[in-house]
Amino acid sequence: MAHKEIVLTGDRPTGPLHLGHFVGSLANRLELQEKYKQYVMIADVQALTDNFEHPEIIRKNVLQVGIDYLAVGLDPEKTTFFIQSMIPQIAELTIFYLNLVTVSRLERNPTVKAEIQDRRFGRSIPAGFLMYPVSQAADITVVKGTLVPVGKDQLPMIEQTNEIVRSFNRMYKCNVLPEAKALISKVSRLPGTDGSAKMSKSAGNSIALGDSPDAIKKKVMSMYTDPQHGRVEDPGKVEGNVVFTYLDIFDPDKKEVAALKEQYRKGGLGDVQLKKRLIEVLDAFLSPIRTKRQELEKDPNYVMNVLLEGTKKTLHVAEQTMYDVRKAMLLDYK
Ligand code: TRP
Repeated sequence: MAHKEIVLTGDRPTGPLHLGHFVGSLANRLELQEKYKQYVMIADVQALTDNFEHPEIIRKNVLQVGIDYLAVGLDPEKTTFFIQSMIPQIAELTIFYLNLVTVSRLERNPTVKAEIQDRRFGRSIPAGFLMYPVSQAADITVVKGTLVPVGKDQLPMIEQTNEIVRSFNRMYKCNVLPEAKALISKVSRLPGTDGSAKMSKSAGNSIALGDSPDAIKKKVMSMYTDPQHGRVEDPGKVEGNVVFTYLDIFDPDKKEVAALKEQYRKGGLGDVQLKKRLIEVLDAFLSPIRTKRQELEKDPNYVMNVLLEGTKKTLHVAEQTMYDVRKAMLLDYK
């Protein structure tokens, strides 16, 4: 590859990460760390934009998300982890970028729009929440990120970032900030166990990476299948059937999955039998992660140390970016 990418992504530490995170971005990050310089940010400041009354939740989950990263195989030798609130340059950039964005543009951002509706903010939306996409542009540009592996719902964020990048470079007649490309995972999005489009902890339809075998069993057994598929001998629907969606993604035996689909469509394959297979498949996938998680849980100082070491490295890069930005904006007082 001619151009060396700088990869930057992040997650809000509002809870431990789940299978949706794995499919949506962790899987891509595992590949990208082999090829590029990669930063992975724990977005505690962004998490506070809708959890500001509960800092203890965020504090607790910074460590949990750090544990998740290491448990899935992100390697601190290859990936630089950092904690967002410890990089003051992100806040600085955010203030500068806010001049380049209008309130109406932020209100039109589809992700933010959906969130405003979900949270029933109306006109009482906290200003910090409305402008979090600007802060996200700062997250990406503070390390001059060019590639952002994220779930599909984050596309408007990348678009917003690039608008800011172009407008900054044009306004200050420079080429300081690079544009970023989104890298969307092959699997577009993992539905929740209840069949709704998105897996999320707050919706109670998620399977956490550290879930116990018992928890997985319970969640799979109550999974959404085909409501018309009452008796074993009835023909059943495969499309929109969450158990099959998960098997398609996690079952390494594609032939067997194809055979099961055929049998299910014809009738004669019961939900319980099908779900038992998924429980086995998910256990095989999650058990090494769970074991690694348990080891890391016993050594929280090691995990924090990894996060703090990465933060130190990132600070250094952030300072260089600020040097360029300040110069372009004629703020390089001497
Ligand atoms: N908004 C992202 C999410 O909720 C997290 C995030 C914050 C992020 N800053 C980022 C992702 C920068 C990619 C790049 O999942």
